[in-house]
Amino acid sequence: MTGLQLSIDKALAFVSGDEIRSFEADITLHLEKIYQKTGRGNDFLGWVDLPSKTERALLKSLLEDAARIREQSDVVVVTGIGGSYLGTRAVTDALGHAFNAMMTKETRKAPLLLYAGHHLDAAYLSELLGLLDDRDYSVIVISKSGTTTEPAVAFRLLKKHLEGKYGRREAARRIFAVTDAARGALRQLAGSEGYSTYVIPDDVGGRFSVLTPVGLLPIAAAGFDIYGLMEGAAGMERFLKQQKDLFSNPAALYAVTRNILYRKGKTIEILAAYNPALFYLVEWWKQLFGESEGKEHKGIFPAGVGFTTDLHSMGQYIQEGLRNVFETVVRVEKSRYDLEIPHDPENLDGLNYLAGKTISHVNHMAAKGTMLAHVEGDVPNMEISLPEISEATLGEIIYFFEMACAISGYMLGVNPFDQPGVEAYKKKMFELLGKNQ
Ligand code: PA5
Repeated sequence: MTGLQLSIDKALAFVSGDEIRSFEADITLHLEKIYQKTGRGNDFLGWVDLPSKTERALLKSLLEDAARIREQSDVVVVTGIGGSYLGTRAVTDALGHAFNAMMTKETRKAPLLLYAGHHLDAAYLSELLGLLDDRDYSVIVISKSGTTTEPAVAFRLLKKHLEGKYGRREAARRIFAVTDAARGALRQLAGSEGYSTYVIPDDVGGRFSVLTPVGLLPIAAAGFDIYGLMEGAAGMERFLKQQKDLFSNPAALYAVTRNILYRKGKTIEILAAYNPALFYLVEWWKQLFGESEGKEHKGIFPAGVGFTTDLHSMGQYIQEGLRNVFETVVRVEKSRYDLEIPHDPENLDGLNYLAGKTISHVNHMAAKGTMLAHVEGDVPNMEISLPEISEATLGEIIYFFEMACAISGYMLGVNPFDQPGVEAYKKKMFELLGKNQ
C-alpha cells in the first residue's frame, strides 16, 4: 500500500469498467516494455528503477555538499530550465513555508532558493544580480545537455558576478554543476574550473530527472529530507511493480482512463490542486506530460489550475465551455496546520454557519462540491489523494506520474522520452541571433 490513492469513480459515467478492462492485455505489454526496457525510447528508461538503485553513497555525498552550500550561503541560485528546475521547485515549494522569502535564514534553517536560467528576461536577471550584491550565495547550475541557451546565458552572468564578488577561487567553491558525464560545454567548464560536479545519468531524460542530483542537490541544500523523498519514490516503485491487475495499479488505471477519455474527444486534461503549495507540482506535471505526449500531431493537452483561486477565473470555462476537458484533482487529506473559523456574535458576514469548522474542512467541501458540479457539467473527474504533503508522499506522486506518463505515451503510440519539437524554436532563434549552426 502507498499513501497515494487514485479514485476514478467520478469518471465512470464517461468510461465503463469494461472499456478499461479491454486494455488489460495492452497494458501488460506496455509494462513489460517499460520494465524490460525494450520499448520506444528505451535508452531513457533509467528512471524506472532509480529510486531503488540510487546508492546511499551518492545521497551521502549530496548531503555533504548541501551542508557546505547551507553554511556558506544565504541564497542558492538554481540555474536551469524545464526538467532541470521544475522538479526542485515542485518539491521545495510544496514543503517550504508559504512565505519562505520573507523569513530569515535562521528561522528557515536553510538558504533561500532563487531561480535563474528558466527564461531570458533582462529585468529579472538584473534585479537578481542586484539582490545578490549584498548576499552570500552559491549557484547550482544544472543542464543535462550543457548547451541550453537560457541557463548558459544566466550562468555566464552569475559566474562573472560571483568572480567579481569573491574572486575566482572562492567563486569556484560556490559553484556546483549537475550535467552529463562527458558531453557538453558545462562539463568542460566544470572540469577546467574545478567545480563540484554531479552527473545526470545518460539514461534519464530531463523531465524524469528530479530524483537524480538534478533535484536532490538543491532540495537537500534547501534543508529537506532527500532520504524520505527517495524512500517514498522507492515505495511507489515497488508497489506498482507488484500490481499485476489493472484496477489495482493506479498508474496504469490513470493512464488507461485518460486515454479512453482522449479517444472520446476529451483532449485537454486539467490538473487541479487545492493547495497553493502544489502550484509547481502542477507545473512539473505539465512539462512531464506535455513534452512526453505532444508529438506526431497527437497528445492530451496538459493544463493546470489552482483551486479554489481559479474557480473564480477558469471555473466558468470548465463548467460550461467547450466539452473537451477532463480534470484530475490532487487533494491533500491533512494540512500541515489548520485553523478553526471563529464564532462572531454579530455575524454581520453571515459566516456563523461555518463557526467551529476548520479551513481544511471547508477546502475539502469546496473540492467535493466542485467535482460534483463539474461532473454534472460533463467534465469527467479523477482524484488523486495524498494523506499529507511530505517528502515521502511527494516521492510517491513523482514516481506515480512518471510511470503513468510512460504507460500513457505508449498507449498513445509515441516515444514518451524524446522531444524533437523543442528544437524548432531554437533553430529559428539561432538563425536570428546569427549563431553558426
Ligand atoms: O525534459 C527535457 O529533456 C527538457 O525539458 C530539458 O529538461 C530542458 O530542455 C533543459 O535541458 P538541459 O537540462 O539539457 O539544459
